[in-house]
Amino acid sequence: MISLTRHILDRQQSHPDHTGALSAMMTHIALCGKLIARDLNQAGLSGLLGTTGTTNVHGEQVRTLDERANRTFVDVFEESDVVRVVVSEEMEEPFAIKRAQGSGTYALFLDPLDGSSNVDVNAPLGSIFSIHRVGASGSILKAGREQVVGGYVLYGASTLLVYTCGDGVHQFTLDSAVGEFFLSGSGIHIPPRGKICSVNTGNQSKWPGAMRKVVEHFQMGGDETGPSRTARYSGCLVADVHRILWKGGLYLYPGEVKKPAGKLRLMYEAAPLSFVVEQAGGLGSTGEERILSLQPRMPHQCVPLIIGSREDVEFVEQCLQGGSR
Ligand code: AHG
Ligand code: MN
Ligand code: MN
Repeated sequence: MISLTRHILDRQQSHPDHTGALSAMMTHIALCGKLIARDLNQAGLSGLLGTTGTTNVHGEQVRTLDERANRTFVDVFEESDVVRVVVSEEMEEPFAIKRAQGSGTYALFLDPLDGSSNVDVNAPLGSIFSIHRVGASGSILKAGREQVVGGYVLYGASTLLVYTCGDGVHQFTLDSAVGEFFLSGSGIHIPPRGKICSVNTGNQSKWPGAMRKVVEHFQMGGDETGPSRTARYSGCLVADVHRILWKGGLYLYPGEVKKPAGKLRLMYEAAPLSFVVEQAGGLGSTGEERILSLQPRMPHQCVPLIIGSREDVEFVEQCLQGGSR
């Protein structure tokens, strides 16, 4: 039984140049995961369901649990002296951590609660995190390939923490009786091709023609790419991408004709999930560019996302770029 605490300390010892900052940040993230898992577990009994009546920077309805999960991360990281600034889906402006203003060299990007429309129906949810070093000029907008850590917590039948710091993908499962995450998967490798296609086909009429054709192709199947794909879609990006991490296949959230950048957010959805998926041998793409190569312009910027098994993603890229089908 290797606990997350032990795993992080071991890694720190084998890299003598590590300052302990990574351990401190991962410990804080794990604590947030445990606190949020507890809230989700009791939400129906503690009056935490429903919405707050406000909208966030993306114009989406904020749920009580979105706000609460965001508060949990802020409260925990206010005790950090290494994270200088927190950027969250639920906060329009970057949030400065007072305690870390002199010492902090990291920026934390967060989707505190992903898939929050699942809250009221007891379906899976997630938290997504991404850590960057603050640049010499104080800049926090860096390409995804420069992430120090990327990962997520998945609140499903059990609570999982999956992360990478560039040395493969590690998965931990929460033993809630003990209150500790234990290693349950290391060196995870995504199959090069898969059978699953995870996409909200309810949006089909809004996509550009080339994207409609690709998804139609997956639905009809029967040629060199094999039989038609199995559809899986939970409405929680973390849960859908996690399924693909283990089973292979594709998750797509395309841009729309009237909204070319789509719905998902680069810094705290697409980039950290692409870091995890690439570390497992897969790929994250906009259809034109590798997600991890994009230079962000704004903290809350959206991007189209095609992510999963490498050959499947490359196939979609070729179709969209007018290559062979
Ligand atoms: P969030 O709850 O953080 O706003 O994210 C919701 C995202 C993602 O989790 C999911 O895959 C997608 O939105 C679902 O959107 P649709 O309902 O448009 O399919
Ligand atoms: Mn989300
Ligand atoms: Mn969210």
